[in-house]
Amino acid sequence: MHRSSLLIAAGLVLSSTLLLRAATSEIIVPGAAAAASVAHGAPRPAAAAPECGGEPCDAILRGLAAFLDRKLAGLEGNGRACADCHMPTDSFQLSPASVEARFQLLQWRRRFDRRADDPLFRPVDADDFRTLGEEAHDFSNLRQNGLVRVTLPLPANVRVIDPATNAPSADTFVDVWRSVPTVNDVALTGPDGTNPWARGPNPSGGYQLDARFGTLQEQALAAFTAHAQVGIAPSERTLDDLASFQRILFTNHRVRALSDALREGTLPLPDVDGPLTALEQAGKAVFVRACAHCHGGAGQSTTQAPVVRYHDITTQCPRPVDTAVPARFAFTPCPPQLARNARTYEITLPGNTIVRRTSSDPGRALLTGFVGGVPAQDDWNKFDTPGLRGLRKTAPYFHNNSAATIEAVVDHYTEFFKRVVAVLGPAARPPVLSTDGVNVDRPPTPEERLPLIAYLKTL
Ligand code: HEC
Ligand code: HEC
Repeated sequence: MHRSSLLIAAGLVLSSTLLLRAATSEIIVPGAAAAASVAHGAPRPAAAAPECGGEPCDAILRGLAAFLDRKLAGLEGNGRACADCHMPTDSFQLSPASVEARFQLLQWRRRFDRRADDPLFRPVDADDFRTLGEEAHDFSNLRQNGLVRVTLPLPANVRVIDPATNAPSADTFVDVWRSVPTVNDVALTGPDGTNPWARGPNPSGGYQLDARFGTLQEQALAAFTAHAQVGIAPSERTLDDLASFQRILFTNHRVRALSDALREGTLPLPDVDGPLTALEQAGKAVFVRACAHCHGGAGQSTTQAPVVRYHDITTQCPRPVDTAVPARFAFTPCPPQLARNARTYEITLPGNTIVRRTSSDPGRALLTGFVGGVPAQDDWNKFDTPGLRGLRKTAPYFHNNSAATIEAVVDHYTEFFKRVVAVLGPAARPPVLSTDGVNVDRPPTPEERLPLIAYLKTL
């Protein structure tokens, strides 16, 4: 390593560690000095404390260094680190505001140095259209929406319609644009082994917005390949180190205490909520009734039987519009910068029936091709249920960043519940809508909107 890059690496690790502390106050690593010594390649202290939050302490330090390292030794990647997208100063996620600030800074630096670079802006997934290859320079989905392009193979029975000809194209891959989720609390939000969905992969949850990976190691390997374009696969130890590091990242000390208690089997489990005002307390009761049957358990990603882990909550574009008069539900339409990500798919069902459906991101249906069943039971537009902690710092929301504020999230769910009632008709009262199978008693009432929002801001 050159001396200058060494200094930069050490500085990055040091300042990030401090920033981590300032921003989340929750990363318990045994000191920035130790982290810097890892970056310098100095021998690790032999008698490091054996465990930090259930993970080997030295693995956490190596994982931290690997997470921040733009030139991980020998991997021949494209200069990207995990931290380029999961920004430590942005709750380990990526907001459109951070992207735009970095983009503007890069333009400004380029006035003085033509070769100035920010590896966030790599054509592999940051440009909008891969047809331009390395020449691509349209970063509008990233800058306007904070979305990264994810390329997924199409199942054998699914084709994308070419808008120019309105006929199925020969493409075997499709691009979807997804937000960068936080890696806080991943120790709690992975597969939970309960209430499995009818089919895999990972029927009871996993990592990525569609839960296509069962472990953090699988996930990190895919990130190295897809986002960092490494030429050489990272070692298993690096993948384990990254997993150890991420498993000690929590939104706050109360979530960490809950994770510790679960791991150590200490009962009763501590309360994850901080002190709540009367309004927030009232909002919590609404959350427990209206949201926790999906966002339940320690990670807020475990469902209550018979509710399962994967759902279509109508966040894709375009949004359904009710044809009844008066309209029974009315979603906020997607703005043009998101609506343009919609594609029409042609799906061949068993028995060779062909159906067409349009979506900006069909979610789990891209993993399984399982479409065309009774709507609630197929995989179309279904996503994994995410945790919600630290919400007030991670706007915008949903897989496509389509809700700008927590208020917009709650208003979206109000319409979502109304639509489920409208689509199912008066006879059906599934657990998603009803606690007793008879009454539609889960949706928040208009009076409950403010308390619910107040509570969500405390998470
Ligand atoms: C180019 C930006 C980018 C880079 C670089 C990147 N990620 Fe991600 N990460 C994403 C996006 C986008 C998703 C969601 C993808 C999806 O659902 O298909 C994601 C998802 C994740 C998740 C899943 C979280 C959950 O709750 O399911 C983890 C964990 C993660 N990344 C870790 C990493 C690690 C470790 C690295 C470095 C090896 C890394 N990421 C590099 C953009 C990035
Ligand atoms: C039927 C199950 C279900 C119910 C009920 C439900 N959610 Fe969700 N929630 C999901 C799924 C699935 C996603 C992921 C969808 C996406 O990202 O587009 C999600 C995503 C979210 C997100 C986005 C998180 C992020 O980081 O972007 C928020 C916020 C949220 N839900 C809040 C709530 C609130 C508040 C309620 C109660 C009013 C609620 N949810 C009820 C299943 C549910």
